[in-house]
Amino acid sequence: MSPSYLDFYQLKEDPFGLTPDPNYYYPYTEHANALLSLDYIMNNREGFYLLTGEPGTGKTTLLRIFINKWQTQAEIALVMTPRLTSEEFLQAVLDDLGVIYPLSGNKNDMIKEFRDFLLEQAAAGKRVAIVVDEAQQLPDNTLEELRLLSNLETEKHKLLQIILVGQLELEAKLDEPHLRQLNQRIAVRSALTNLSDKATGDYLITRLHRAGATSGSIFSFRSVQLIYQLSGGIPRMINMIASRGLMVGFLEGKKVIEEKQIKIAAEEILKRKKPNRRAGWRLWKSAS
Ligand SMILES: Nc1ncnc2c1ncn2[C@@H]1O[C@H](COP(=O)(O)OP(=O)(O)O)[C@@H](O)[C@H]1O
Ligand SMILES: [Mg+2]
Repeated sequence: MSPSYLDFYQLKEDPFGLTPDPNYYYPYTEHANALLSLDYIMNNREGFYLLTGEPGTGKTTLLRIFINKWQTQAEIALVMTPRLTSEEFLQAVLDDLGVIYPLSGNKNDMIKEFRDFLLEQAAAGKRVAIVVDEAQQLPDNTLEELRLLSNLETEKHKLLQIILVGQLELEAKLDEPHLRQLNQRIAVRSALTNLSDKATGDYLITRLHRAGATSGSIFSFRSVQLIYQLSGGIPRMINMIASRGLMVGFLEGKKVIEEKQIKIAAEEILKRKKPNRRAGWRLWKSAS
């Protein structure tokens, strides 16, 4: 596709890509607080932290920022596809941390190596964290294994911080009686919801500037309000509508994008994309 819409709006790149790119981070209160909680968990060597939110609210973006910040002071294992048995999970963690373990595949052997590793790191003043994205997919047995791992501690400290990030059903799952013990160990929890209408405007401007925009008002005030309504303030939906909005505005030769262009953009997105369970339902509803 011709990139000339970028020239038209004097942008260096697409401001509304869908990847969780930390360079485009806008420090909304909820996001900033979640990052503070993550720092707290690491600094105080707490056991578990839980971050939940609907799809598209910014969870993976926060994880990227967190990992960038802590990777020199901590050994961090990141598990992005957690539908793993407890053995597979343990292997994935050890592999990611570069811990060598006997190929027997015996879980006790792996846990022994892991414990030695944790003690070494603690002696060197380093933190160790396991971060699980899409943690609502963790099987119950694997969650139970995580709880057991979090028992690894010295008299003073937890040796391991465990960060669970997932969709809302993760919270519900942890409320079930058989997972109560794990639930009780969660030291801090955060939930991401959606941006406010004002924040939606600031978010758009932040991303436009990061992509090189010099004009502060590519989107009219009313078009921002419409983007907010149609997206429900969910960042991923904001990006989809705004990105398409730029294209429509360019094709119509509009330096300032108005409500009309946003309406067309939203309709085009609907044609392409069936709504999934949650993300997009507002967009779907309001246009149908
Ligand atoms: N605070 C934020 N600042 C900038 N962009 C954000 C923010 N939160 C979310 N986004 C953007 O929204 C989109 C979805 O974010 P993502 O982290 O993938 O959500 P989730 O993991 O919750 O589904 C990405 O393009 C991401 O860059
Ligand atoms: Mg994600």
